[in-house]
Amino acid sequence: MLTSFRSINRRDFLKFCAGTATLLGLSEAAVPRVAKALEEAAKKPPVIWLEGQDCAGCSISFTNTSNPGTAEIILDTISLRYHEALMAASGHQAEKALQDSIKEGGYVLVVEGSIPEADDRYCKIADVPFVQTVKEAAANAAAVIAIGACATYGGIPRGTPSKGMGISAAMDKGLVPKKPLINVPTCPVHPEHFVGTVVYYLLYKKPPPMDAHLRPLLFYDKLIHDNCERRGHFENGEFLADWNDFKQRNFCLYLKGCKGPFTHSDCPKRRWNDGLNWCIGCGAGCQGCSEPAFYTGMSPLYQKTKDIAGYRIETVGAVMAGAVAVGLAGHFIGQAMTGRLGKGGPTEKGGES
Ligand code: SF4
Ligand code: F3S
Repeated sequence: MLTSFRSINRRDFLKFCAGTATLLGLSEAAVPRVAKALEEAAKKPPVIWLEGQDCAGCSISFTNTSNPGTAEIILDTISLRYHEALMAASGHQAEKALQDSIKEGGYVLVVEGSIPEADDRYCKIADVPFVQTVKEAAANAAAVIAIGACATYGGIPRGTPSKGMGISAAMDKGLVPKKPLINVPTCPVHPEHFVGTVVYYLLYKKPPPMDAHLRPLLFYDKLIHDNCERRGHFENGEFLADWNDFKQRNFCLYLKGCKGPFTHSDCPKRRWNDGLNWCIGCGAGCQGCSEPAFYTGMSPLYQKTKDIAGYRIETVGAVMAGAVAVGLAGHFIGQAMTGRLGKGGPTEKGGES
């Protein structure tokens, strides 16, 4: 049985295992393996969760799941040793728990939030520069999982005076020891992307297959645009141009800055808040939060993007405007934009991936 400080009955636990198997694209036959991996995990793969320059949105996203939620089960399952927002301990007691876990080694290090590149003083915890804490914690970690836009590629803090950088950049610069790294972006992290990644790691004892930006292909292999519910309007050249025109409310949002044609994630299918809705379903364009270029490389968010380096956006934009004007179907434009246009999404430096 799953040993847990909160009691979760066997039925709920197996239900969770079945859901997780589906999440990972495994058949029902794999449920016992998932259960076994999680039960073994309950005997302790410790997790240290550090927060740097962030808004704590990923922690909130992770805990905002339904009951019995992934958070509840995984928090029990993974033996969370240190989490500034969730742990009961505080002060010296909390820091001791961190140091003891680091000494023990072999844990999974989860990092939420970016590291300031400009000056260590921008982010200190217990008076220790965040980069120093990540460096020490990464040294004895079995693997590192960076979650959310900030920890993966710098996110919003990258465009601030602190010059926030992601864990992969910090590893490349030699500031943090290189370890197996998995990037699980979006702003905030999708709880199922995170939980699925953790369970995959527990099951197979290695990171899942990943793309060039170290994102699990399980969740980030398709463009938003490929499965978008507004794609039909895109193909028909029906673009929302006036937010106040009720007739246009379901039209394609490309002219209003949607970054779906350049953004990789399964949001259209998985959606958010237990499948309730998602960005484009709510009438806002995709802001490209799963891409290394987010945020500065994706802004202005509500204008057609002509200036993302590495894409022939201006050409496409001009052709698109022409397509709207003459009412031509956008099919061929769509092919050019997504296939398709370049070799992938924009990179942290603003180049092509
Ligand atoms: Fe959907 Fe955006 Fe593509 Fe339009 S541009 S079809 S809104 S992903
Ligand atoms: Fe997904 Fe794009 Fe929204 S990546 S979370 S649809 S900003």
